[in-house]
Amino acid sequence: MAINSTGLQPGQGAGEENNHSHLAPVVVAALSAVSLRCVECSVLYPALEAGQPRYRCACGGVLDVEMSPRLPDAYVDDTLPAGAGWRQLFDERAATPPIWSITTDRMLLDYSGVWRYRELILPAPDTYVVSRPEGNTSLYPVGIENCSASRSGHRQIGLYAGLERLFLKHEGENPTGSFKDRGMTVGVTMARMLGSTAVACASTGNTSAALASYAAQVGMRAIVFLPAGNVAGGKLAQSLAYGAETIQIAGDFDDAMRLVEQVCDELGIYLLNSLNPFRVEGQKAIGFELLQQLDWQAPDWLVLPAGNLGNTSAIGKAFRQAYELSLISHMPRFASIQAEGANPFYRSFKQGFATRESMQAETVATAIKIGNPVSFSRARRVIEESDGIVESVSDAEILAAKTVIDRAGIGCEPASAATLAGIRKLVAQGVIHRDEHVVGVLTGTLLKDSKTGIPQEASGVVIKPTLDAVRRVLS
Ligand code: F0G
Repeated sequence: MAINSTGLQPGQGAGEENNHSHLAPVVVAALSAVSLRCVECSVLYPALEAGQPRYRCACGGVLDVEMSPRLPDAYVDDTLPAGAGWRQLFDERAATPPIWSITTDRMLLDYSGVWRYRELILPAPDTYVVSRPEGNTSLYPVGIENCSASRSGHRQIGLYAGLERLFLKHEGENPTGSFKDRGMTVGVTMARMLGSTAVACASTGNTSAALASYAAQVGMRAIVFLPAGNVAGGKLAQSLAYGAETIQIAGDFDDAMRLVEQVCDELGIYLLNSLNPFRVEGQKAIGFELLQQLDWQAPDWLVLPAGNLGNTSAIGKAFRQAYELSLISHMPRFASIQAEGANPFYRSFKQGFATRESMQAETVATAIKIGNPVSFSRARRVIEESDGIVESVSDAEILAAKTVIDRAGIGCEPASAATLAGIRKLVAQGVIHRDEHVVGVLTGTLLKDSKTGIPQEASGVVIKPTLDAVRRVLS
């Protein structure tokens, strides 16, 4: 008989009184403050229901986590300006030096670039948290004005973009090499809180690597569905090395996504795509961390690549919350950048979101080769609320921008370079002004895809180990 991911057999646990009797009281208490609201029809669900975890509303819409963040009592001071208590709390935690004592758990939480903001992420009991830790990624100043001429390599990026004040937040510096670790630490923590023994996702490669790593940390079964032939070698290698059951689908990401949702429903496996609203909560930390690195001064623009649209949704929600808590004084405008051959969100945007487009996707940036994005409605809200924009760039533009980022010595994977390609295009169009303050997100590391956009001929030269031979090559 199939065992569902809450550890119950189907049909068990239907009685109101002992719905959650298999869960620790501390988990039930923590999640009693959390609700899930449908992005389409606004119906509200409790985070804990009998039976299978819920990923969609009865109407089919995706869900958004709702809870009221509570500032710890020690930081409440009505004489201070709004937001000051939150800033003090997060700044103190960020200042904690990563020196491990014998009892590391609490320090690990403060040091994680996700759990440092835990009151705004998930009220997980400390002992359930599964963390590498993640986050604490660099924010590179690369604009013409905010990057001095002495770092002429990095400054090439600002010159290419045509911007005075540009920062790049490099999420490829996370433990498994992409921003997905931020969502996955929360997703796997949630799986643990629910007593799940198996987790699964469909992926273009980065989500699966993160899922495999975090599941392995706690000995959980991990199952990943990948579009065969469309995953960069390094990403596939990670899933295999971390011990995930890796299933390649003779289809594209959208096929794999449809399939994994059915598989998880039928077999009671906990689904960890960004359809899972708790993954989105973790990814919000990209926004909180970059705002903290900017001393809580919001930029004018936030630019990022867009595929399944989880990240646009998450960072948008983070900025909205930061604004509501008076951590920042204005909302940045969003620019989500899609590859020309995988741009359904752009096509919908161009029609004022009158229709929801989908397409057969094709692009050299395999991470964002997605034709029917799951978080469409969540991301649409972010674009509309922030007076944002969706832009589309060609594969040639993506690869040209990647070369600029690579040659600066920073490097990124192809999908991430859509950010710089998009910025350059929007500056050229006069949409982003040269003196505006812009943060671009680089979503993944250079290291997983050793082929796309990287000159292979340079490694083709093999010479004799003699000085003469070297002289000839370098002359
Ligand atoms: N950049 C990289 C490096 C990615 O891996 C992804 C998504 C995106 C951008 C797009 O982010 O989906 O939140 O809009 N990768 C997913 C995966 C689909 O399976 O690894 P999004």
